[in-house]
Amino acid sequence: MIVSLKSEELKVGMFIDLSKSWFENPFFKTKFQITSEKQIRSIMKAGIKKVSIDSIKSSVKIEGLKDIKIENDQTPITFDAAALEEERNKLQIIEEEEVEEVIKWEPEKFMDKALIDAVFDKGLPTDTRSKSVYQYSLEMMDNLFKHPEKSNIKATKEGIRQIVDIILTEDAISSNLANIVSLDSQTFTHSVNVGLKSILLAKAMYSDSHGHDMHELGTAFFLHDIGKIDINPAILDKPDKLTDEEMEEIKSHPHKGYKILNDLDLMETDFCIVALHHHEREDGTGYPAGIKGADIHPYARICSISDVFDALTAKRSFKEQKTPIEALTIMKNEMMAHFNIDIMRSFVLLFKQD
Ligand SMILES: [Fe+2]
Ligand SMILES: [Fe+2]
Repeated sequence: MIVSLKSEELKVGMFIDLSKSWFENPFFKTKFQITSEKQIRSIMKAGIKKVSIDSIKSSVKIEGLKDIKIENDQTPITFDAAALEEERNKLQIIEEEEVEEVIKWEPEKFMDKALIDAVFDKGLPTDTRSKSVYQYSLEMMDNLFKHPEKSNIKATKEGIRQIVDIILTEDAISSNLANIVSLDSQTFTHSVNVGLKSILLAKAMYSDSHGHDMHELGTAFFLHDIGKIDINPAILDKPDKLTDEEMEEIKSHPHKGYKILNDLDLMETDFCIVALHHHEREDGTGYPAGIKGADIHPYARICSISDVFDALTAKRSFKEQKTPIEALTIMKNEMMAHFNIDIMRSFVLLFKQD
């Protein structure tokens, strides 16, 4: 089906038809699948307000498809000629680079087909599916931290998108996932726990709003510690107390993560900033910048709560593992100055069992 969307509603994966005329768009072709946020920004910068989408050829679901009117092919596409020319010049290089890099999400290369099938089989009991979603997420992030190449980071974004889709659309799975407890403290397990809990929290907080791109946000949460790929593993895995020097190296991971995500152009700054701010604290006692309260991005304030919760509940050789209730109590009684009270309140409600 051909539908018409506003440029700001475009998503990576949509198959678009920009115009009948090559002269009216910044690209060197008129029909193609969007492969990067950069292309979407270029369409918007060029002043194109509406775009035709082929929903059959698109690899992403088009929200509210039933409500969108069928394009009658009469809608004029407005454009700014000077901006188009400028964007086209810039994009010549970008498009050539993108052709070189084939980015595909191929989970079947490193996980069982049965697991992949279980994640998407809506006929399975909720409990089985929830465990499958968790296991799928673990294997996805384990694979990413073992192979943290740029192309794999980009490909994994599609896997995260699928998991976020399930969380957003299937409440029974969401409720179950909130109560799955981590078994270890490895970076990939931690990334899954923080990714899942944070997106559940964002879903609870933003359910009435369309102003947040939950798929991008999910990616930001799952990748909040991606900077750890540039930290010496001996320091990350050290079972004993860290020296001051080792601690300084650990504290460089927010900056490193932000730079990786930003350099990759994986998502907009609002999302990359989760990696940079997730160790900042409401009272200014966090790192790397020691910023306070509203200066910390709201998305990072969500992430920081899940992050601390997982650090408390994960099993580590040098400290006692806390139960979820114990962890929430410690956070409320001893660490509340670190967190935003409203977000913390929503976080506690995630664990409410019906
Ligand atoms: Fe971190
Ligand atoms: Fe973390």
